[in-house]
Amino acid sequence: MSNSRAFHSGGIAILDYGSQYTQLIARRLREQGIYSEIFAPDAPAEQVFASAPRGIILSGSPYSVYEPNAPQLPAYLLKMDVPTLGICYGMQLLAHTFGGTVSSAAQREYGAANVRIVPCPLFRDLPDQLPVWMSHGDRVERLPAGWRALGSTSNAPYAAISDPEGRRYAVQFHPEVTHTPHGAVILRNFAVHICGCTPDWTPAAIIDESVAALRAQIGSERVILGLSGGVDSAVAAALLQRAVGDQLTCIFINTGLLRQGEPEQVVQTFQAHMGMRLVAVDASELFFEALAGVTEPEQKRAIIGEKFIRAFESAARKLGKVRFLAQGTIYPDVIESGGSAGSAARTIKKHHNVGGLPPDLGFELVEPLRYLFKDEVRQIGTALGLPDSIVWRQPFPGPGLAVRCLGEVTFERVARLRAADAIVLEELERANLLRSETSQAFAVLLPTRSVGVMGDGRTYQETIAVRAVRTEDFMTAHWARLPYDVLARISERIVNEVQGVNRVVYDITTKPPSTIEWE
Ligand code: XMP
Repeated sequence: MSNSRAFHSGGIAILDYGSQYTQLIARRLREQGIYSEIFAPDAPAEQVFASAPRGIILSGSPYSVYEPNAPQLPAYLLKMDVPTLGICYGMQLLAHTFGGTVSSAAQREYGAANVRIVPCPLFRDLPDQLPVWMSHGDRVERLPAGWRALGSTSNAPYAAISDPEGRRYAVQFHPEVTHTPHGAVILRNFAVHICGCTPDWTPAAIIDESVAALRAQIGSERVILGLSGGVDSAVAAALLQRAVGDQLTCIFINTGLLRQGEPEQVVQTFQAHMGMRLVAVDASELFFEALAGVTEPEQKRAIIGEKFIRAFESAARKLGKVRFLAQGTIYPDVIESGGSAGSAARTIKKHHNVGGLPPDLGFELVEPLRYLFKDEVRQIGTALGLPDSIVWRQPFPGPGLAVRCLGEVTFERVARLRAADAIVLEELERANLLRSETSQAFAVLLPTRSVGVMGDGRTYQETIAVRAVRTEDFMTAHWARLPYDVLARISERIVNEVQGVNRVVYDITTKPPSTIEWE
C-alpha cells in the first residue's frame, strides 16, 4: 500500500476491496493522464487524503455485502462530500449502506452484456447502448431513497445508478477491463467531468515531480544503486542521475549468470553513453565456486541471493561514506506486498529476489519508482534517453541462467546455455517476435542426454528446451504459437553452433500447471 507521503495531487484514490481488477482501474486512469493511487479500505483518512484526491473509486471484491466480515465503506465517506464511484461490490456497498437492498441474483451474471443508458455526466459522449463486462453474483434489487437508475440490462434493472445530488455513482459492470470498450471514457468522465481532475499526469510531469522529490530526500548526500541490466533499476538510475548527478554511484555485479553480451551492454550504456559513475565487479568465480555440486532449485536461489548481497556489500564499502541505497521497486510490488482486503497470497514459487538487499546493510532507502506502473517506467525510461534494448527488455529472473541450467551449474554448462539462449533471442528478434508476440522467451539446458547422429558418428549429448510464452501478468501464461520455420531455424542453429547439444525441444505447457521458468 502507499505510504502517507503525498506524490502527485488532485487525482483519484481507489479503495481496494480485493478485486482482481483493482490495478487495472488505476492503470486505465493513468493512461489517460489522471493520477490515481490505491489504498486499503481501512486506511486512515489522513493517508488517503495526503495527496488531495478529487474523487474516490470503490473497487469490486470477492465478498458479498451481507457476509459477516465483509469490508465496509469508510466512515469518512459518509461524512464528506467527495464524489464517489462504486464498481460492482463498490456499487452494492453504496446501495446497501444508503438503505437499498442487495440480494443474491438468481442467476450469476458473468460475461458480455448490453446496458441501455440514461444520458448523464458519467456517460457523456457515449452511445445509448453500451457493451459491457459483467462479473457478479449479488445485485441491487431496490435503490436507496431518492437514488435513480442510469442504466439497465435484460438481467439487471440497476446496472448503473446515482444518488439524488449526482455526487455518488455506481456501476454493476467493470469499466476497467478491455471487454468494456467504452470503459476508459466512463472512468475519464467520472474523473474529469464529475470530480474536476485535470489530465496532467504525463511522462514529463512524472519526471519533474520525481526529480524534485528525490532532490528533497537526498539533499547533498551520496546514493548507491545496484544495476541488474533490467528495466527497473536502469530507469531508477537514469532518474537519479537527472536528480542528483554525480552523487549517484551505480554498482553492477557480474554474477557470471547473465545473458550473452549483457555485462558489456551495461557498462557501455551507463558508463559510456549516460556518463554515470559505475563500479562493475566481476564476481563470477565466486558464484560458480559456491554453486559447485548444487542441483536443487531453491538451494541455488538461496546461494546466489546470499553471494549477491556479500558482493554488493563489499563493493559498496569501498566507496566510503554513503547514506542512501536506491532500489527499483515499482508500484505493483508495493500494492501486492500491502495485502489489501481479500487478496490471496499469490507467490507460489519462492522468488529469493537477487538484487533485493536486506534492511541491515545500514543505508536509508530511496525508491524512485515506488508510485509507477511498468508502462510508466518504460515511458520515462525512453524520455530519459535509455535505449529500446533496455527499456523493452523482457523480464529476466534475479538468479539468472542458474535457474535455467537444470542440474549442476558449471561455467561450461552455463556457457552452453548462454550460446543457445542468444540464438533463440536473435532468431525471434529477426522475425520481429520479441516485443509483440512473446512476453518472455529463452532457452533451458536439460541435464538429460540422448543419442544422436552427427556426420558418421553417434553422439550422446544434452538437450535444449525452448520456452516462449505470452502473458499479461506472468501469473498465468500461454505458450507462444511460434511459426514452424522460426522454430526450425532456432533448432538447426543450436545443434550446429552449440557444442554439446544434439537435441532441441519446444515447451508446449501453459502456466498453470507449469511455471514459466523450469526451476
Ligand atoms: P514463474 O517461473 O514462477 O515465473 O512462472 C514468473 C515470472 O517471475 C520470474 N522469476 C523470477 N524473478 N527471481 C526473480 O526476480 C526469481 O527467482 C524468479 N523466478 C522466476 C520469471 O522469469 C517470470 O517472469
